[in-house]
Amino acid sequence: EGNKLWGGRFVGDIDPIMEKFNASISYDRRMWDADIQGSKAYAKALEKAKLVSTGEMEDILGGLDKVWEEWSGGVFEIKAGDEDIHTANERRLKELIGDVAGKLHTGRSRNDQVVTDMRLWMRDAISTLKGDVMQLINTMVERAAVEIDVLFPGYTHMQRAQPIRWSHWILSHAVALTRDTEQLEEIRGRVNVLPLGSGAIAGNPFAIDREFLRKELGFDAVSINSMDATGQRDFVAEFLFWASLCLTHLSKMAEDLLLYSTKEFSFVTLSDAYSTGSSLMPQKKNTDSLELIRSKAGRVFGRCAGFLMTLKGLPSTYNKDLQEDKEALFDCYDTVHAVLQVATGVISTLKINPSTMQAALSPDMLATDLAYYLVRKGVPFREAHGCSGKAVFLAESKNVSLNQLTLEDLRTASPLFDSDVSAVWDYTSSVEQYSAPGGTARSSVLAQIQHLRSWLTTH
Ligand code: ARG
Repeated sequence: EGNKLWGGRFVGDIDPIMEKFNASISYDRRMWDADIQGSKAYAKALEKAKLVSTGEMEDILGGLDKVWEEWSGGVFEIKAGDEDIHTANERRLKELIGDVAGKLHTGRSRNDQVVTDMRLWMRDAISTLKGDVMQLINTMVERAAVEIDVLFPGYTHMQRAQPIRWSHWILSHAVALTRDTEQLEEIRGRVNVLPLGSGAIAGNPFAIDREFLRKELGFDAVSINSMDATGQRDFVAEFLFWASLCLTHLSKMAEDLLLYSTKEFSFVTLSDAYSTGSSLMPQKKNTDSLELIRSKAGRVFGRCAGFLMTLKGLPSTYNKDLQEDKEALFDCYDTVHAVLQVATGVISTLKINPSTMQAALSPDMLATDLAYYLVRKGVPFREAHGCSGKAVFLAESKNVSLNQLTLEDLRTASPLFDSDVSAVWDYTSSVEQYSAPGGTARSSVLAQIQHLRSWLTTH
């Protein structure tokens, strides 16, 4: 097997089933660009360390550029025996420039190479995902600004709780996404550390300038310990958790919208562009986009849990188990990337039905305000709560709504009720009470919008 990177001590061929089982080329080919970047930097470091001559370095760099061209032109040919992306690129390099290609791996191991590739690949992936999340946040914030005067019922325990602004609901989900963005930025900092120069386990025995490699490859720092650098995949696990949490946030939003889009609620109408039909029932418009958004959290968390199980109890440094990092990473990346784009599409095309939303508000949702009315007259809140509760009970037993109780009725609950109590039955003034920062009053929601707009410009 001429292509193998490790054939020397072996007798006979590998079992084809084992060869297929062991190979990662079918998925790690995605890191072709990162792999070539890393190799080019390493070739330069070898020249600086006088392990290759300037001419040899130029041959290697030129060859790597050709390999790069082949990948980017879609004509790179994967051959039998190309175990992984590192093997494939080195095999091709040798075909193009001959034996000098064999100098490239001096002092390097696939153990520091693969983790360098992973980190380079993730750096780009993270910046794409950050852009996706920010775009979604921006879409939500601008929508919230336009629809700030729409009121609808807020729910706790899925029971009607208090009137809120629709924008307040939108922003509640946007704010969670800002934390996802910030967490992603922190993860990027831990990802962006150079492992190259760690070798297989013990480090690099040649005068490889790791600081030079760091600068060449745009890393923020050089890894501190070669065993840690080659044997850890905590940065992958962290990313998988990030993906799980981000999609958990979006699954909550999707679930709300699914509920709001039922005929029974009719608060929102999903655009046809994000809906599908039924093969049997002609009237159906199914909310598949939201259901899939909701579902993907489960898929991604499965990847996260699965990979942590792989990591648990592994002995120190590189073990082939670590190869499992890539399918988990790529699948989570692809999934989150798609979900974020679809969510942006759903939110930007969603139609809302403000009159249905408004009509869904009911006076019982102002029972808290009725208690606050008494609080403002000096009644301790606990007592006021009880009086308002009595009024609710009275309304229910008379089968009228809370605002249809007469003043006489209300006075049986508390003598402090007066004719000005009628002002309580106004949904707009109800939400306007909540003007403390974070609340649902117009001014407070506007402040949230301002806050998020400036957050968007500084991230
Ligand atoms: N394909 C391997 C991986 O993804 C590359 C590292 C192989 N290292 C080794 N010592 N066999 O982890």
